[in-house]
Amino acid sequence: METILSGMRPTGDLHLGNYYGALLNFVKLQEKYDCYFFIADFHLLTTHPNPADLNNNVRKILAQYLACGLDPDKSTIYVQSSVPEVAELYMYLNMITYVGELERTTAFKEKIRQNPNNINAGLLTYPSLMAADILLHRANKVPVGKDQQQHLEITRDIAERFNRMYKQDYFPLPQAFNFERELVKIPSLDGNGKMSKSYGEQATIYLTDDTSVLKKKIMKAKTDEGPQSPNSQKSVEIENLFSLMRLVSKQEIVQQFEDSYNDCSIRYGDMKKQLLQDMDLFLAPLREKIKELSSNETYLNKIIHIGAEKARESAKKTIREVREIIGFKI
Ligand code: AMP
Ligand code: TRP
Repeated sequence: METILSGMRPTGDLHLGNYYGALLNFVKLQEKYDCYFFIADFHLLTTHPNPADLNNNVRKILAQYLACGLDPDKSTIYVQSSVPEVAELYMYLNMITYVGELERTTAFKEKIRQNPNNINAGLLTYPSLMAADILLHRANKVPVGKDQQQHLEITRDIAERFNRMYKQDYFPLPQAFNFERELVKIPSLDGNGKMSKSYGEQATIYLTDDTSVLKKKIMKAKTDEGPQSPNSQKSVEIENLFSLMRLVSKQEIVQQFEDSYNDCSIRYGDMKKQLLQDMDLFLAPLREKIKELSSNETYLNKIIHIGAEKARESAKKTIREVREIIGFKI
């Protein structure tokens, strides 16, 4: 069976884009592959979070993954920092990674531009840590977004170099996992093409948003002056509202608003009220589940412990073999 692996930095609450664009797909993958999903808390150290935030974010995000349907009985769900073997592999891989290839990475260039006072070595070696995550379980497929493709290429280069250097076909060269369906893109509430934290909190719907927060965000969503003639093309803002509605509302409800848009009788206020009601109904059970899981520290600790045991089993095997290949005898 092929091995799938993906890591996510615990940078905050999951939003609808993360849910539809990543989590729902992961949940399906669990049925068909040997899956490893982990929380990349080592990676977070590149930007110096404080200890309390780091710890809280890990548990918060774990509760959200579980609520979305990641299943510890089907997959190995773990926290990166509970698998120390990754640090050992990272060190070995750094010995065969060139500073030049790391410096050329787009994400690194972007980070140093944004943060010229914190160009630490961890930031530079972010891709070799990611390579260690992937190669530690000798993963074949990695479902990542476009922004991570370059990191995956570096992983392949490092794996290939290792295999060549030690004349062994040891590491599989991991490929980006392509979802059969076209990847969905969830739009934001402010007319931007993509829901993303970086476009602002008010335009992003989080799985944890309660009714009053949702109300504020949806009622403030950008609209336009309304359709000026029958069957006119929709502006980006209105198309976005329809896209969000298609996710959570019944088809006949969406059709009703399509029709009223087309005959120019639509009232955006009514559409927003409907979207709010349906979004709230959709999120309520997830919100409850997240709340319940978040408050159950004992359960979360148990999941972290089980995940670490499972992940370390595979990690220890790889480290043992890698040490032998490199030439360490003890
Ligand atoms: P991010 O939180 O931006 O690092 O995204 C994590 C993952 O969530 C990405 O790799 C995407 O697969 C998915 N994702 C994030 N935002 C969206 C969005 N607006 N639409 C669809 N998928 C998204
Ligand atoms: N760098 C990834 C991101 O920011 C997170 C990540 C860390 C990852 N290690 C990984 C993703 C290994 C896939 C495989 O989204």
